Amino acid sequence: MKVLLTGKNGQLGWELSRALAPLGEIAAFDRGGLDLAVPDQIVSAVRSVRPDVIVNAAAYTAVDRAETEPESAHAINAAAAGVLAEETKRAGALLVHYSTDYVFDGVKDAPYVEEDSPNPLNVYGTSKLAGERAIRAVDAPHLILRTSWVYAARGANFFLTIRRLLREKSSLRIVSDQIGAPTSAAALADATAQILRRHDRLALGTMSGIYHITAGGSTSWHGFATQIARLERETLQSTPAIAPIPSSEYPTPALRPRNSRLSNEKLLARFGVKLPSWEACLEKCHGQLQQGRPARDSG
Ligand SMILES: NC(=O)c1ccc[n+]([C@@H]2O[C@H](COP(=O)([O-])OP(=O)(O)OC[C@H]3O[C@@H](n4cnc5c(N)ncnc54)[C@H](OP(=O)(O)O)[C@@H]3O)[C@@H](O)[C@H]2O)c1
Repeated sequence: MKVLLTGKNGQLGWELSRALAPLGEIAAFDRGGLDLAVPDQIVSAVRSVRPDVIVNAAAYTAVDRAETEPESAHAINAAAAGVLAEETKRAGALLVHYSTDYVFDGVKDAPYVEEDSPNPLNVYGTSKLAGERAIRAVDAPHLILRTSWVYAARGANFFLTIRRLLREKSSLRIVSDQIGAPTSAAALADATAQILRRHDRLALGTMSGIYHITAGGSTSWHGFATQIARLERETLQSTPAIAPIPSSEYPTPALRPRNSRLSNEKLLARFGVKLPSWEACLEKCHGQLQQGRPARDSG
């Protein structure tokens, strides 16, 4: 199997480079090799690689900055997704694309299922939803995998930020009224590889659609931070107090949904794939960081 992977230096792209390697030949691109904002580059990359599967781990992910850069967010998250889908169809390939819990407004009282109506609260969510729709409109074989609260042992993410703040601050105030599933990029990449390994590419094409894919269970950002502190305790001189606060006390340019929980039942039923609990994923990521595994380079 030949895989074209975008966003190879992102949190997820980095883990996908590892997880997909045993499946075959990986042609992995960073922004320098394939800029999704330039449609011609997408066309020529796909036509020269001639992949069986395109895995799009690249995205405009700066949720707050997107509020003032909607054109960039749409070019990368929506327009580029449409071009990737067209090239996927032309190549007779399969497109694996990632989307987000932020397509929802968070007012539902239970985990969101794939059939729930999206209603994004911010520009990033709007651009990701437009990407989903662009892919579906082309009707190429595709899997759109919606995930949430992604973190890794490298990159810019809540896990690494809290880890740093635990060493710098004597107390922290963390939002406790947004609920979701922290999902490690490693678990997400492993699950993606499992799906591609267990199912023939053509069979996967017949299962085209949207799937929710997160770590098991849920918590708030406060719960996530508290669990990080628990794991870090032995390495800290003193553990800062972590106070729960409402979102209203931590205003951000982009609104976030209160309920980000995504039901993974369809994923399990269709592919037999289930991610570990968010606590287990966090412990594993933390352990790898302690052992100094993550950096294959300094980027
Ligand atoms: N992070 C989350 O909490 C979260 C939550 C839900 C869903 N998701 C989705 O999960 C997927 C993976 O996210 P992630 O957390 O791995 O994101 P990430 O760490 O921010 O990585 C995104 C990658 O995309 C690349 N990129 C940005 N603009 C590009 C362009 N114009 N052309 C080519 N590459 C470009 C970035 O390259 P540079 O380093 O050069 O900028 C970066 O390597 C995305 O689809 C995201 O929307 C993420």
